[in-house]
Amino acid sequence: MTIYNHFATFYQQGDYLRFSERLVESVLPLYLGEMAIEPVDILDVACGEGSFAVGMSKLGYKMTGIDQSQRMIELAQARAKKESAQVNFLVEDMRSLSFNEAFDLVTCFFDSMNYLLTVNDLQETLQGVYNALRPGGTFIFDMNTIYGLAVVWMQEETYVQKDSDDFIEIHRQSFDYENQIATMLITVFKRKRRLWERIDEVHQERGYPLADIQLLLLKNGFEIAGMYGNLSNRTDVHTTTPRVWFAARKP
Ligand SMILES: C[S@@+](CC[C@H](N)C(=O)[O-])C[C@H]1O[C@@H](n2cnc3c(N)ncnc32)[C@H](O)[C@@H]1O
Repeated sequence: MTIYNHFATFYQQGDYLRFSERLVESVLPLYLGEMAIEPVDILDVACGEGSFAVGMSKLGYKMTGIDQSQRMIELAQARAKKESAQVNFLVEDMRSLSFNEAFDLVTCFFDSMNYLLTVNDLQETLQGVYNALRPGGTFIFDMNTIYGLAVVWMQEETYVQKDSDDFIEIHRQSFDYENQIATMLITVFKRKRRLWERIDEVHQERGYPLADIQLLLLKNGFEIAGMYGNLSNRTDVHTTTPRVWFAARKP
């Protein structure tokens, strides 16, 4: 099933963009400055509707964004045009990236790596990111932890994400402990004059043990430069950390 197809437009109109906006406005430039990372060319993997890539482009970085969703890339291209930003947006699957030593920094944010549901998919993605980086380049990404998906997400198994006169978005979630996969059923009702249109999408996110992520990074040739509970103040990761941030460096 294709994800972020119909839902892409609602994603762009929802509160989801606060995540990438905060990253652009303060978190990432601050982190890059503190770590003395000075990228020129940046690849944003799973760029979604492009708010992060367009925002970073306006800060002067040369941006490329890829996403598996044709609809997300169309929205990203429209955003770049509207905001007069030059960004190279491409439809591409992160499990088969096509770049060779073209970037100083690769980013992948807001759960996107959790959409990789097998260890093999995670391995192929990390290998592709490694190949895409120039020597000395850095890969920065976040992932929901198993705790985040199994406990924090499950605090509310069903909730209304958004409710207005002509729009209702409902989330229903469950967690499969055997496979450490969270399934979120997203149902949107959108009013078109006197009729309501219903859209359903199934999103699945897998949580990985931190040791497995570290092992795969090392196996692919990365050095782990940092692992944080929060990128802004570089806090430590604990058993109850819901989201982990990694910075991995290609020697
Ligand atoms: C939660 S959204 C995050 C989008 C964006 N990074 C942001 O911060 O708004 C997850 C994104 O991952 C993309 N995605 C999921 N699996 C992918 C894959 N195998 N290859 C490329 N993109 C993928 C989806 O299409 C979606 O745009």
